Amino acid sequence: MRVSTINLLLLAAILLAPGCNGRKASSVGSDHSVEARVERLLSRMTLAEKIGQMNQVSAGGDVAGYAEALRNGQIGSILNEVDPVKINEFQRICMEESRLGIPLLVARDVIHGFHTVFPIPLGLAATFDPQLVEEGARVAAVEATSQGVRWTFSPMLDIARDPRWGRIAEGSGEDTWLDSRMAEAMVYGYQGRTADSTSMSACIKHFVGYGAAEGGRDYNSTFISERQLRNIYLPPFEAAVKAGAHTLMTSFNDNDGVPSTGNAFILKDVLRKEWGFDGLVVTDWNSMGEMVSHGFGTDRKDVAAKAVAAGVDMDMMTFGFISHLEELVHSGAVKESAINDAVRNILRIKFLLGLFEHPYVDVEASRAVQYAPGHLDAARRTAEESAILLKNDGLLPLDGNSLRRILVTGPLADAPHDQLGTWAFDGEKSHTVTPLAALRERFGARVDYVPGLTYSRQTRERFDDVVAAARKADVVLAFVGEEAILSGEAHCLSDLNLVGSQSELLEALKATGKPVAAVVMAGRPLTIGRDLDNCDALLYSFHPGTMGGPALANLLLGDAVPSGKTPVTFPATVGQVPMYYNHNMTGRPYRNEKLMQDIELEAGQTSLGNTSYYLDSGASPLFPFGYGLSYTTFEYSDQKLDKDVYSPKDTITVSFTLANTGKYDATEVVQVYVRDLVGSVTRPVKELKGFDRITLAAGARRTVQMSIPVRELAFWGLDGRKKVEPGDFQLWVAPDSASGTPLSFKVR
Ligand code: GLC
Repeated sequence: MRVSTINLLLLAAILLAPGCNGRKASSVGSDHSVEARVERLLSRMTLAEKIGQMNQVSAGGDVAGYAEALRNGQIGSILNEVDPVKINEFQRICMEESRLGIPLLVARDVIHGFHTVFPIPLGLAATFDPQLVEEGARVAAVEATSQGVRWTFSPMLDIARDPRWGRIAEGSGEDTWLDSRMAEAMVYGYQGRTADSTSMSACIKHFVGYGAAEGGRDYNSTFISERQLRNIYLPPFEAAVKAGAHTLMTSFNDNDGVPSTGNAFILKDVLRKEWGFDGLVVTDWNSMGEMVSHGFGTDRKDVAAKAVAAGVDMDMMTFGFISHLEELVHSGAVKESAINDAVRNILRIKFLLGLFEHPYVDVEASRAVQYAPGHLDAARRTAEESAILLKNDGLLPLDGNSLRRILVTGPLADAPHDQLGTWAFDGEKSHTVTPLAALRERFGARVDYVPGLTYSRQTRERFDDVVAAARKADVVLAFVGEEAILSGEAHCLSDLNLVGSQSELLEALKATGKPVAAVVMAGRPLTIGRDLDNCDALLYSFHPGTMGGPALANLLLGDAVPSGKTPVTFPATVGQVPMYYNHNMTGRPYRNEKLMQDIELEAGQTSLGNTSYYLDSGASPLFPFGYGLSYTTFEYSDQKLDKDVYSPKDTITVSFTLANTGKYDATEVVQVYVRDLVGSVTRPVKELKGFDRITLAAGARRTVQMSIPVRELAFWGLDGRKKVEPGDFQLWVAPDSASGTPLSFKVR
């Protein structure tokens, strides 16, 4: 048998083997067979065809309109088409009518579920359950890929410390460690632990620092130092790259004057050279073109050259590459080698996903996949775990058998679209189960529904109808908050109180003397201090998704016990923002000085306490990061470290006893925080370095051990290097970021 035949057979064997190219599907690397195929195809491409691969178009619904461009190889990827019949046609034109038969990368914002919608990512983070979040991302990938979508613009990893920013809904909150664990979970979930037809390329975004928009106003400038980037904002992206994320999206913001889409430091020095990322970098929607608006380029041709020079591979909706790159290459302004590098990154993903072998989907089969029972069950379990119990004066859980009449009220009680939250493009409200529907399913005619407000911003002077209904009820369940449209991209708020007359509705209900349980559905932490005074219990549910109704009903009735924890600080007032737990100590930390309302203002006083706080609201949040109640109580005791002194190569083992001292079997999210007391630069008062979900039966207790490698205490110090600095440290094992007694240790 001729050698070349053996090689072909060998190559075929490698390519057809499970996992396709002998590498974890969840990684983009230098697999020989993929690389060989990339090089061979690249060598056959004209410059125009290469540039066509770098062009992404929002082509939803318009196959005919783009057919010519597809035949000419001028489009490498489309977004916003999810109809499998149309996607098959898009692919067929590429595969059969273009010169080289290169399949499209079909993309969609599958942010927290495809058809089966899970809680918004901020709610996913509130579960502190990476395993469950991975399961949800896997469900999303199975549903989306069955229809031909093979690339999602998720997970969003933007650290957010400012709830005025509408997109706080889309990320994992304020903490770097939690964000990193969620990032890994979603990358593994989307891409799968092994390569197959359900692998959907993740896209980690928005690179980088977008959530630090000044004033919490979307698209605004950020001013993040390199040290802050390296210690706070970059680590989740690095974790996702290590988890094998296939793609990355540049962010809209200019940081320290440089728009991310033209920032070679982050896109080349950090992403490619330091982290070894060899996936695909795509711009955000027209973020290349917006560099003209930023004043970073003179026109579309200029910013196209700047984007390629910075390391961008694919242009989303500026059409800067397709319009100007050929000319820029011929003029010598852009080297063809840079184009080749970009196209390698694009083709690598297409080979990794097996698109050349399997560009089409089975339309019939895709229908059976959507909303599969297992998918809905996963969505319900996630919504249950994501809800946070912020107050309970003993009202919850309700005893369903003793309830003759239940009043359900509030604008979010039966809002099937809004319950899905922001970025739920393909969630169908016809499949949403609202709290009202779930409660009626359980209690039938015993449920009265008087919304009081038909939408959150509605204002009313009186609530006679609702009050009358409440007087007849045994319990009032009030679903308040914000609609999906008040959350998400470009939807920022300068006031975080419940909008409209929702607080007045709660006040009127409280005045009836009937027990009131409030459920807040929102895309951000709201300043609900006033509302907490007007209810006996409060569950916070970051837009819970398709199965939010059954989940909330189960929680209210004790069929599920709340375990969610705040993934972001809840400020007492919007004026305190930005407020986050892992802040620096400052030279004059707040010492609980009296607030102005408690001070007898005597003439001539000159100081009310020279520390860092607000006279009218102090410097403590309404709820700290990591906070959440249960129906049971947990007790932490016997906390101890395995050593007093560690070397940088050691692993810290902390052990403690956790006891469930209440009446309900329940799960506690135990958290480990560390503080570096003295550093070459000032360090946060504490940082999350570990968490775990521990389930205990009522009355049970367990000795728990958790390990923290000392290397996790490394940070970028004064010398611009990342390392563990020797010295004194403290460690807490606690139920939230504001509790616990520190244990001391040293690192030599
Ligand atoms: C949007 C968002 C980005 C999204 C993209 C495609 O403007 O910033 O997160 O993935 O456009 O829809």
